[in-house]
Amino acid sequence: MNLIETVSYEEMSIKAAEIIFEKVKNKPASTLGLATGGTPLGTYRELINIYNKERTSFQHLSTINLDEYVGLADDHPQSYHMYMHEHLFKYLDIPASQTHLPDGLAKDLDGECARYDKLIEQLGGVDLQLLGIGQNGHIGFNEPGTLFNTRTHVETLTESTRKANARYFSNQSDVPTHAITMGIQSIFQSREILLLASGIKKAEAIRRLIEGDVTEDFPASILKNHANLTVIADREALSKSTI
Ligand code: GLP
Repeated sequence: MNLIETVSYEEMSIKAAEIIFEKVKNKPASTLGLATGGTPLGTYRELINIYNKERTSFQHLSTINLDEYVGLADDHPQSYHMYMHEHLFKYLDIPASQTHLPDGLAKDLDGECARYDKLIEQLGGVDLQLLGIGQNGHIGFNEPGTLFNTRTHVETLTESTRKANARYFSNQSDVPTHAITMGIQSIFQSREILLLASGIKKAEAIRRLIEGDVTEDFPASILKNHANLTVIADREALSKSTI
């Protein structure tokens, strides 16, 4: 694991955006695995800044997102489709046909999961996967107890995850109970992984990631076995770890 400590959320975001930009510069037809949540917002902002400054084009890039809530339409304000559009896609020249998220309204959810796995394969696999981490160690929406060999599947969200994500909804009861998520194996198969963590709320998860065992009770722990994992964490997120 390559661990980068930063002093702040801003520095974490700049470093992450630089790594992503370099990747795209070196391989314009990359497939980027993208994440949602509060953590990558600054990274997307910085990436847009570099993109504008360098007057570059991302037209050959493909993106594949980790997850989407079941039951939310693409244009629902809290859908991850909307999040990606509002915070990243609308500022870049990636053709819409090259940006992919699971369809939360699919009638045949198992069929949708199979389609998504096939799509990852057709895209040639993920070159660089961006990840946040849940307080309980979830990655994507793979909650504790998810088998390490899972591909894209429907996950029942834990109460703690629904509570953590309730800040984006008017009521906790509005937070969907299920999500389609890339599985742990699908994530692990990415050629490179960039995991970000910021703030005291993530300190225990980061301690467990750095110091704990590899166990399905803590999904992110499998990443320690990945040959090309970079963790960028700020001081607060690292405050409980001995490094
Ligand atoms: C969500 C997302 C994850 C994200 C995590 C942490 O449930 N599905 O991809 O990493 O929660 O979110 P945040 O960055 O807001 O702390």
